[in-house]
Amino acid sequence: MANNNVGLGKAKVNKKDEFNTQLNDIANEMRHYAPYFKGKTVLCNCDDPRVSNFFQYFALKFHTLGLKKLITTCYKNQDVDMFTEHKSERAIYLIYEGDKNGNGSIDPEEIGIHYLKGDGDFRSKECLALLEEADIIVTNPPFSLFRQFVKTLFDYNKKFIIIGHQNSMKYKDIFPLMQENKMWLGYGFKGGAAHFISRYEDTAVGGEHIEGMIRVSGVVWFTNLPVSKRNEELVLTETYSPERYPKYGNYDAIDVEKSLDIPKDYYGLIGVPITFFNQHNPNQFEIIGNTCDTTWCKNNGVGRIGEEVIAKLRRQGNKSHVTANMHSIYLIKDGKVTLPYARMIIKRKV
Ligand SMILES: C[S@@+](CC[C@H](N)C(=O)[O-])C[C@H]1O[C@@H](n2cnc3c(N)ncnc32)[C@H](O)[C@@H]1O
Repeated sequence: MANNNVGLGKAKVNKKDEFNTQLNDIANEMRHYAPYFKGKTVLCNCDDPRVSNFFQYFALKFHTLGLKKLITTCYKNQDVDMFTEHKSERAIYLIYEGDKNGNGSIDPEEIGIHYLKGDGDFRSKECLALLEEADIIVTNPPFSLFRQFVKTLFDYNKKFIIIGHQNSMKYKDIFPLMQENKMWLGYGFKGGAAHFISRYEDTAVGGEHIEGMIRVSGVVWFTNLPVSKRNEELVLTETYSPERYPKYGNYDAIDVEKSLDIPKDYYGLIGVPITFFNQHNPNQFEIIGNTCDTTWCKNNGVGRIGEEVIAKLRRQGNKSHVTANMHSIYLIKDGKVTLPYARMIIKRKV
């Protein structure tokens, strides 16, 4: 079995943020948003535009999409190099405004190359000026700066389609944006994983390993543009029974491991994995809270675990960091204490 998360884990720890997205993955997602690009300025602000498939995609589709302008900035690099070494403190940005000479190709003289004063950091004043000018931001921001990147998009009130990791949905500052329907998941990668062009060591094995690529599981697209699957109702077939759907030991909600197992006749609080956002239709369910946020748990009725439960957990051989005073949800299942992973609390609306 491939250990698919190692690549991302390393990226976070070592701030290795150089993954490049494949053209077909970009095309697969963008095709759903075609009507929203008409007359718009697109900015790819975490890019190396001369090698990036984001630049390539939007330049190739410039006229089909009816774009007004394409701007891409690169970070700390002026050399055409797939994997930037960040050698230069000064970066460039490109502007493309279409096939001016009408020869059907993207000619070098049609691409305006401009120097940035600084290193191309998306938070710099000059990059923020480009952000201000843009209508839609499309990029794969560095995983290590994801929260800051999203905050910047909201500070500037921008439309966006960006790549991130599903784990970020449980972050204190990302979850509320999803809960309040200010951002949601896009259509996503096939099988919930993607191969990125990368020189980092890939731990995927067998058919999942592709030379020159790294496989990352749990990658998703986040957006605040309309996504049709959000209007589809989850078809529920299961029936509630207290035996099948036990409540948490310290919170008045049932635990459901898979979205499709949500009972059709239960209208109380339900704990589901954070990946439920993949199926979320805001007309069908209300998002109540995030059990990964200890402050939320404390303020919303999740009781302390307690000494007895912790003692039992330790007797079972569990060495996790939870302690008796913590307001973390737990379940007693078949006489055993279990700590469900990354749950959010939802409630049926209809
Ligand atoms: C995950 S890679 C994605 C690259 C490319 N957009 C793609 O997917 O094809 C993140 C990119 O962000 C760049 N980057 C890192 N820190 C940045 C910052 N502070 N501001 C802007 N870009 C940054 C990295 O150099 C890298 O090219």
